[in-house]
Amino acid sequence: MTKETLEWRDRAREVARKVVLPNAWKYDRLQEYPEVIREAMASAELMKVWIPEEYGGAGGGVLDLCVVVEELSRCCGGTGVLFAVNALGSFPILLAGTEEQKQKYLPGIASGEKLIAFGLSEKGAGSDAGGLEASATKDGDDFILNGLKKWNTNGPAADINTVFAVTDPESKSRRVSAFILEKEMEGYSVPYVEDKMGIRCVPVGELKLENCRVPKSQLLGGKAGLGFKHAMMTLDRARPGVASQAVGLAQGALDFALLYATQRHQFGKPISAFQMIQKELADMATKVEAARSLVYSAARAVDAGDPSLTKLAAMCKYFATDVAMEVTTNAVQIFGGNGFMRDYPVEKYMRDAKITQIYEGTNQIQRLVVARNLIKEAAGLAHLEGFIPVPEELR
Ligand code: CAA
Repeated sequence: MTKETLEWRDRAREVARKVVLPNAWKYDRLQEYPEVIREAMASAELMKVWIPEEYGGAGGGVLDLCVVVEELSRCCGGTGVLFAVNALGSFPILLAGTEEQKQKYLPGIASGEKLIAFGLSEKGAGSDAGGLEASATKDGDDFILNGLKKWNTNGPAADINTVFAVTDPESKSRRVSAFILEKEMEGYSVPYVEDKMGIRCVPVGELKLENCRVPKSQLLGGKAGLGFKHAMMTLDRARPGVASQAVGLAQGALDFALLYATQRHQFGKPISAFQMIQKELADMATKVEAARSLVYSAARAVDAGDPSLTKLAAMCKYFATDVAMEVTTNAVQIFGGNGFMRDYPVEKYMRDAKITQIYEGTNQIQRLVVARNLIKEAAGLAHLEGFIPVPEELR
């Protein structure tokens, strides 16, 4: 890691330990947005990390973003996504926005003054992200948006929302466009807020667009029809962030389990003296380390623009989030009966971990993305063909 990346990690660790950890369980119970954490993140300038310097940011990359998300999530998984979702919402603007859109929106996000969300999913379009129904109909120089967006993470708190809607229902590959919406726009509302199992400090809502008229200047990049591609490119860059949330959650649960195992006595010994507990701790730590390495590799690939970034982002997302589910569940097991109780810390880690296997593309979809990319790569294996005997009738 570079000196800058290590500085980001240390800065995030300080905020996480001083502000996130003492507040995490309170806001989990209240299911309320933690303004105190938001202020601490903004004053430590964490929201600048992924935004280029020319737009008020610090010019860091996805690896820098990942180390920050990991540290925050180690203390509270909800806080990890409460932070990272701002990167998800702003990546489309960074990737495809016009210069004017970048100048208008990115500085407010970098300063922490504005929060942003990402509105892709709908009731009938989850894994099938291309199957959107929300519409954006052209009317003179404006677009009129109608529809419902589901599972809009951060939506109820966000000032800005990058929203995907159908502009050309007849087209197969140019059906969808992205729009930058502001919460004050007429016809924009978030009337429903979900009651969730985990990540309870970040609000998830249903975004309603009812004859929401916006000028053409809100069309991302000023060009219609590129929305699906931009959504996919965004997810490639954001999935390592979810994977970092998972690594942080897993590490945090392991930290607690390790400490507890050295303190809890049974049969006259700390339970860490028993080999079955040792085996669990060793496996947990090894899997967390493996997940972390894969996440960092994927983040580096994204930062370098490596052609394998889509595959690596999907790999690290499903691997790290499956590890997080396993490790947080095993942490509860090590805590035994106490692990199941709300006044002990680990059950929250397990609840927070579950969503990481689902959002930003389910882990089933990630495996599909990896497999599709692998199959494409098979074309590069022609040099091995002669070594596989193929019966004449199958040629
Ligand atoms: N980068 C650039 N372009 C891409 C791409 C990528 N990674 N993946 C696909 N595309 C392009 C293709 O090249 C193709 O382009 P052309 O039409 O020009 O040929 C087009 O997009 C369609 O591609 P596919 O045929 O592969 O599309 P598909 O319908 O089979 O879907 C999918 C592919 C991978 C299943 C995709 O729908 C997907 O990722 N689904 C999961 C959706 C998801 O992750 N949702 C998360 C919501 S956000 C969220 O959860 C946030 C939160 O709460 C915090």
